[in-house]
Amino acid sequence: MSPSEPGFAPRIDGVDAPAGVALAARARPRAVDSVVELVGNTPLVRLRWFEAACPGVELWAKCEFANPGGSVKDRAALRIIRDAQARGDLPPGVRLIDSTSGNTGIAYSMVGAALGIPITLVMPSNVSEPRKQVTAAFGTEIVFSDPLEGSDGAIVMARAMVDADPERWYYPNQYANESNWRAHYDGTAREILAQTGGRVTHFVAGVGTSGTIMGTSRRLHEHDRRIRCLGLQPDDAMHGLEGLKHIPSSLVPPIYDESVIDDTIWLPTDEGWDMADRLAREEGLFVGHSSGANVAGALRVARELSARGEPGVVVTVLCDRGDRYFAPLEWEKHYVW
Ligand SMILES: Cc1ncc(COP(=O)(O)O)c(C=O)c1O
Repeated sequence: MSPSEPGFAPRIDGVDAPAGVALAARARPRAVDSVVELVGNTPLVRLRWFEAACPGVELWAKCEFANPGGSVKDRAALRIIRDAQARGDLPPGVRLIDSTSGNTGIAYSMVGAALGIPITLVMPSNVSEPRKQVTAAFGTEIVFSDPLEGSDGAIVMARAMVDADPERWYYPNQYANESNWRAHYDGTAREILAQTGGRVTHFVAGVGTSGTIMGTSRRLHEHDRRIRCLGLQPDDAMHGLEGLKHIPSSLVPPIYDESVIDDTIWLPTDEGWDMADRLAREEGLFVGHSSGANVAGALRVARELSARGEPGVVVTVLCDRGDRYFAPLEWEKHYVW
């Protein structure tokens, strides 16, 4: 039977794949009017080699690196901008301003370019050249803050610019913005339910702004309160898991609500980094360190279930690609003959 025929369902090792896999295999390539329509609907990939360590338990990862801006933050940025437009907060002439040099900055830049919304990002002047170049490539205006004051200095400067001229700017503050978690409530969670055929039993996601874990957990719990939703945090204030926060030593994001999740997994940086290496070598997935941390947490959960002889369908998130973290990457615009 051909994959395009109705009723086609792929089999993996003689076992019928879940409904979502059959659906994806049948889907036609999309033709869209704008790059922003490519945000979301990311594939779910099974980590079949890692499953050898947890017999009886399925391990799946949501490929957020497949978003057009390259990370999970595309979802939040698009929803934040769409909701702001709907409220009338982004009329012509108003610029979106934020203080991020990471994935959110790239996501705002990509969505802003596609929808014709001017973007200004404030970042410390010592941010790596590639970080500046990627956002600048989208036409984003970059304002540099004092390198000695780090990311807090960039936040203070962005807020001062908004206070000085409030009519000119829209300041989304993703840490307090409800649209952030709603992107995952309406997108990520629904997709996971569809892709697992509603069989998901556990969800694991690292906490940054907490948009991913808050929004996805709320919807999964509404679907079935028995689904266990686990937030993951670095186990130390000084950590190397970019994108994640150690909440006890940080400013708590206003959208973070501990009562939404069932438990927290505390993970050492090394475990996340080692798992990112293993994902590339053993699963062919070259992803960033927060993705490694998420899979390490999900594997812990899967092993515990397997050791107790309990079945499970554990789902986690691959936030971005590993090549985003190559330091000296330079965009070669001119050929050298
Ligand atoms: C690489 C990476 N991983 C994880 C996260 C955390 O996602 P969230 O902000 O939805 O908690 C972020 C957020 O910026 C990120 O950039």
